[in-house]
Amino acid sequence: MATLLLNCAITERMAARLGGTFDVHKLREMPDQDAWLAQHGSKISYVLTDGHYGISVELLAALPSLKAVSSYGVGYDAIDTDLTNARGIPVSHTPGVLSEEVATTGLMLMIACLRNFPAQISHARSGLWATKGQLPLARTVENRRVGILGLGRIGKCLAAKLAPFDAEISYCGRSIQDVDFRYYADLTEMARAVEVLICIAPGGAETHHLINADVLAALGPEGLLINIGRGSVVDEKALVAALESGALGGAGLDVFEDEPNIPQVLRDHPNVVVTPHIASATIETRAAMGDLAVDNLLDHLNTGKMRTPVPEAAHL
Ligand code: NAP
Ligand code: 8YV
Repeated sequence: MATLLLNCAITERMAARLGGTFDVHKLREMPDQDAWLAQHGSKISYVLTDGHYGISVELLAALPSLKAVSSYGVGYDAIDTDLTNARGIPVSHTPGVLSEEVATTGLMLMIACLRNFPAQISHARSGLWATKGQLPLARTVENRRVGILGLGRIGKCLAAKLAPFDAEISYCGRSIQDVDFRYYADLTEMARAVEVLICIAPGGAETHHLINADVLAALGPEGLLINIGRGSVVDEKALVAALESGALGGAGLDVFEDEPNIPQVLRDHPNVVVTPHIASATIETRAAMGDLAVDNLLDHLNTGKMRTPVPEAAHL
């Protein structure tokens, strides 16, 4: 039986599918991970991980017989593909099957912020409506100028979901695409032109702190930042400063720089809506992601090839 090291939490459905084929070891439940790896690491052929835990340099080094890594998520910035490629280890992810769900979360965050929904719900629950009356008027979701940083699979789903709201869409990325939206090569320029900036770009060195103080200032006191991509794309200190000074109007955030820790200022700020990295977290979408993550392992075991390798590993 092939040995599989689990480096993330998985669903019962995934566990059931893996059970008959793999001898499964749960790294995150080991009381002393280093000691366990020193004793058993050389026997591990496969790793199943996720976008949060990825696979560290130390863990890779502790697994000399590793044949393939399957990641339960689409973003793989927590996996160093230069290192895995150098060892000829293919890495797979779960593109596409979560795009609609994640885009819906982006839209929900945008609506929640503009319509001040969390505060309205608290106001109704608290009974303050009866004694203090209504909260101030909110902002409409209709006819917004929206800029998308990262018009990929998820970004395009978001653009489609924004169409019924008559949004005027722009996008920023490394390349111009064959779409009807306005392209900006310069993110600050796009931020100046839009009312809502939605980040759905991958994490990693190339995108680190792309959304900085200048971009936030360009978005402005009425501007709204939505981040469903990766926490590392936004300079969180600059974000906190911009919100506290009023240089930025508000933010809807599903991802953070130091997950699972969310700065207290962001948790408390009246113009900020936070969710705990749940953009893909539904039973249906996690089932599809889990199936694909397991299929990648089974495919590699049976054919030597993964079904949906990350682009950097497509040749392996
Ligand atoms: P994708 O199809 O690969 O799209 C990524 C987009 O980002 C592409 O349009 C790409 O455009 C752009 N991009 C890449 N590098 C860039 C750079 N250095 N500067 C500017 N733009 C850049 O990926 P996807 O499936 O849409 O997923 C996108 C990301 O969403 C994932 O990597 C993950 O981090 C995040 N995500 C988050 C959650 C969550 O739970 N919050 C769930 C799923 C995914 P160009 O090539 O033209 O630059
Ligand atoms: C997952 C994600 O929650 O797919 C991604 O890139 O961020 C999310 O769908 C993540 O993989 C789990 O940590």
